[in-house]
Amino acid sequence: MYVPEKVLTNAELEKRIDTSDEWILTRTGISERRIARKDESSSVLGAHAARAALADAGLSPSDVDVIIVCTSTPDVLFPATACFVQREIGANNAAAFDVSAVCSGFVYGLSIAEQYIKSGRYRHVLLIGAEVNSRIVDWEDRSTCILFGDGAGAVVLSREEADRPRGVLSTHIYSDGTLSDLIRVPGGIGRDGFSGGAIDPRQYCIHMMGNQTFKVAVKRMADVSQEALAFNGLSTEDVSLMVPHQANQRIIDAVGERLGVPGDKVYVNINKYGNTSAASIPIALCEAREAGRVHPEDVLLLGVVGAGLTWGAAVIRW
Ligand code: UT7
Repeated sequence: MYVPEKVLTNAELEKRIDTSDEWILTRTGISERRIARKDESSSVLGAHAARAALADAGLSPSDVDVIIVCTSTPDVLFPATACFVQREIGANNAAAFDVSAVCSGFVYGLSIAEQYIKSGRYRHVLLIGAEVNSRIVDWEDRSTCILFGDGAGAVVLSREEADRPRGVLSTHIYSDGTLSDLIRVPGGIGRDGFSGGAIDPRQYCIHMMGNQTFKVAVKRMADVSQEALAFNGLSTEDVSLMVPHQANQRIIDAVGERLGVPGDKVYVNINKYGNTSAASIPIALCEAREAGRVHPEDVLLLGVVGAGLTWGAAVIRW
């Protein structure tokens, strides 16, 4: 994982907008978030995380067959941010492309990587979630600007022979385009083209119907998590650690309650980073592992929900 050095605390936000540390903490569980420097784009953050993941896996960049970057804050419209990461780390033998599923990005990317590995098509897939949400936040909108942060996380998925299923056991992804208005960045290029006129910066910021999103998020994440466990003949008692998307502490608590997973089996780091969108699960996974919360043979349950509306879950035997 890699997060920018600059920390933006709730106390600092109190000085900029009409909010309070107490409101943010009790409604979201967030105390602070990281903010990227001007020269730190998603590919820069992603490349840092990628190098760390490759070193941890004992692989060199030239071993990588495919680079998938999950991001909703790409460096530019094209080429893909994954191509910039490729250039940055020198993964010269890889194919590279981006996945756009916003906060669900990592589990969507995982489902693609899973198919490449299980089919035998590729040996090593580098999967990255990287975001600079601070660039698309409306810093005058107190209902959204308190939520988001920047960061990146990466994993390497490799094919190996094993006596019994290990690694990603299954992924389950869904979307419902009729809910596309819940969270969106309205500005773009494909719908209206570029008129050459004045651009309204707010069109390039996150718009969110927070309350409605909250309700569907809890139900979808809980339902798909149940489905993922049942698909593998597992129950919530078999879960060693749940690593949910870090959007709101209250969403995480409500999902855990619905599933019957006790709090001490849920990894939460939203307090330090806020919602880092596609980067949130790989950052949480990395910290959980470094904290000694992930052991061989553990069953991990990942759950996500994001704009689209998209949602999904994955079950991993570590
Ligand atoms: O990652 C993808 C998915 N995203 C999410 O899952 C986000 C889901 N939604 C949420 O996390 C929550 O809906 C929020 C944290 C965004 C908002 O919490 P809420 O409990 O749903 O609050 P609300 O939007 O219903 O607003 C309640 C009140 C309002 O005041 P009034 O109208 O009751 O007087 C807001 O104006 O809280 C007010 N408010 C704030 N007050 C202080 C909204 N933002 C703030 C703020 N500071 N930052």
